[in-house]
Amino acid sequence: MAKLTIKNRDNIEIETNPATSLLLTLGQYGIKIPNRCGGHARCGFCKITIISGHDNFNKRTPHEEHFAKEHNLSEEVRLACQTYVKGPAEIYIGQTK
Ligand code: FES
Repeated sequence: MAKLTIKNRDNIEIETNPATSLLLTLGQYGIKIPNRCGGHARCGFCKITIISGHDNFNKRTPHEEHFAKEHNLSEEVRLACQTYVKGPAEIYIGQTK
C-alpha cells in the first residue's frame, strides 16, 4: 500500500495497491474517471499526469506504449487503466502536460 495524493481533487490522499490498476483504485474511492474502452488503453479518457514519485509507477504496458506513441504523450502522462502505483506519489487527474 502506498499513499497517493490527488492534487486537483482537494489534495485527497488515497491508498494504492500495486496489484490493482489506478483506474479501479480511484473508483473504489468514489473518484470517477470517464472511460469508454473498459480499461483497454484505447480511449485515452483515463489520462492522469504524474507530479511526483515517477519511479513508483509501473513502466508503460505495451498497449499503453502504443497509445502514448500514437498520441505523442509526454512521459508524465499515463493511462490510469494501465497504471499501478507501488510507492508515494502525487498526480493530477487529466492531462496537464
Ligand atoms: S479506460 Fe480507456 S484508455 Fe484507459
